[in-house]
Amino acid sequence: MQKRKMITAALPYANGPVHIGHLAGVYIPADVFARFQRRLGSDVAFICGSDEHGIPITIRAKKEGITPQDIVDKYHTIIKKSFEDLGISFDEYSRTSSENHKKTSQDFFLKMYENGQFTEEVSEQYYDEQAGEFLADRYIVGTCPKCGNDGAYGDQCEKCGSTLSPSELINPKSALSGNIPVLKETKNWYLPLNEYEDFLNEWILEGHKDDWKPNVYGQVKSWLNDGLKPRAMTRDLNWGVQVPLPDAEGKVLYVWFDAPIGYISFTKEWAAKNGKNWEDYWQSEDSDLIHFIGKDNIVFHCIIFPAMMKAHGDYIMPSNVPAFEFLNLENDKISTSRNWAVWAHEYVEEFPGQQDVLRYALLSSAPETKDNNFTWKDFQTKNNSELVGIFGNFINRVAVLIHKYYDGVIPAGNENAEELSEISKAAKEINEYLSKYEFRNALSALMNLARFGNQYLQTEEPWKTIKDNPEKAANTLFVGAQIAVGLAQLCEPFMPFSSEKLLKMFNTEKISWKEVENAQILVKTGHTINESSLLFSKIEDETIDFQIQKLENTKISNAKTNPKANPMKEEITFDDFTKIDLRTATILEAEKVEKADKLLKLKVDTGVDVRTVVSGIAESFTPEEVVGKQVMILLNLAPRKIRGIESQGMLLLTTKPDGKLSFVTPDETVENGIEVG
Ligand code: 2FM
Ligand code: ZN
Repeated sequence: MQKRKMITAALPYANGPVHIGHLAGVYIPADVFARFQRRLGSDVAFICGSDEHGIPITIRAKKEGITPQDIVDKYHTIIKKSFEDLGISFDEYSRTSSENHKKTSQDFFLKMYENGQFTEEVSEQYYDEQAGEFLADRYIVGTCPKCGNDGAYGDQCEKCGSTLSPSELINPKSALSGNIPVLKETKNWYLPLNEYEDFLNEWILEGHKDDWKPNVYGQVKSWLNDGLKPRAMTRDLNWGVQVPLPDAEGKVLYVWFDAPIGYISFTKEWAAKNGKNWEDYWQSEDSDLIHFIGKDNIVFHCIIFPAMMKAHGDYIMPSNVPAFEFLNLENDKISTSRNWAVWAHEYVEEFPGQQDVLRYALLSSAPETKDNNFTWKDFQTKNNSELVGIFGNFINRVAVLIHKYYDGVIPAGNENAEELSEISKAAKEINEYLSKYEFRNALSALMNLARFGNQYLQTEEPWKTIKDNPEKAANTLFVGAQIAVGLAQLCEPFMPFSSEKLLKMFNTEKISWKEVENAQILVKTGHTINESSLLFSKIEDETIDFQIQKLENTKISNAKTNPKANPMKEEITFDDFTKIDLRTATILEAEKVEKADKLLKLKVDTGVDVRTVVSGIAESFTPEEVVGKQVMILLNLAPRKIRGIESQGMLLLTTKPDGKLSFVTPDETVENGIEVG
């Protein structure tokens, strides 16, 4: 008996739209697999939804000055629509902010808690005093201790892929304010992953050496070789699913605890609507659990979530975790923050009716075993030479000639012609490849059938034989029609929109994969086909140039923003701003402060008075250099004692590329005491 297929695709964070990297590395392959399994007759649940918790969302909300709820509402809608538009056939696409998900993940946590699976630990965590918040995971940035990348996050360095904890970062800074954080004690609940090492070793390293992809197996192996450490499953944050314990106010479940449980919550939602039993998919040995993910998610799906399910006790383990590498765009890393991407929703708008072209182009360069590259030129070639030139051309010639010579009725031909075996051969090959998650090879097998058909027409030349050997012409078009319908049937997992069009064109229905594998004849002699229409159309240079130009524009605008700039500080009101009294002033006298290398004591004419200011500029200027300079002063800053001297105000300074300071000054000399603002 076919096992049930519980297929999940990584839940996209609802902090931005999806792009071609997501599509090529998770959603399109997962969809091909799910569609293919349905055609095999498997009982499939293909489940996904928006990941609506986690720091990327709160950071985006802060940046846009709106609430996290506004952010997830906006992007959930955009993402869901893009998936529908591109034919991603989820049985359920839900969201982790649903009540059902909250309950499911809290119940999961409580069961583990009651089983005694957590340890409670009080630890020192970074805290941003200005923001009044603990800085978990992505709220903290600093230098990666492994590769030196100075944009590493508290949970991960995206440059070298290392998983980090905030305490490992060098020069940590708050991503909220740019401030240097302090350490503060807090209690959290940890899952002792180290206690699952034996289980994971046996289950994955011994059990899946041969059937899991080498990139996945290799990463798990290196994690296990390094040894696992307990990991906190709760966080001091205010956005997420509340920890369901009495002494846990202000704490939520770790987003990587609640998100994968989303797969379960959403299966429950789907099952309830469709008269199914969700447990059959998650808790029965008759079910194959398969997670489609990107490579940055491997540890969560192969180690942490399985350990959670093991600790809970009722769940099956995934039978495979096909993880993809990354897709680059025009030889550069795809990046949401740099807007270096081809966005799914924009593609759908700009290439109406051409969803299958993107599906095809992305599948044929899917980053299966190594990172891969998408270029618009390549996209154009794949469309023009392969889809139009081979696939579409073959189908079009068959349909047009059947209309022309036989009024749209399939002519008589040899039902045992040897060419017909190419169809079942392709069906079997695709089956074999897809069972091994080899999507590119599967797609090539499909295209080879179209190539074969094209060549066959070219050699047989029915447009010539129709005159002196009409029987031969009829046979050619009979065989051609079988191949065309074979393609219509077999292309469905890859190019569902074209498959539907083709099946309509040939006036026939979708049949099971096994039927295609076993059949010789897919349309009978005497069967009438419908009007033919063009399946694919040529993409012109101007269309591609427009897309390339769009990316060029992104480059130009990125060059203007400094990637190293600290994030914006908390928003202030205009009233806050008007409280600041900034004036033009002139330095009258300057002297070094004893035993303080950095400080100069200045006498400043502010236009309002003459006052003393102590400024940390001695490493950038000599006293002589600054006398006579016009500067800007923050006049109403409360006086502070610095080295025993009362400093009455602060001068505005900025830092030059060489690290030296420079004064912010008006671009021509003005009177002192002029207000700045
Ligand atoms: O990496 C990501 O985009 C995560 N939102 C994936 C979550 S997958 C799952 F565990 F829910
Ligand atoms: Zn690194």
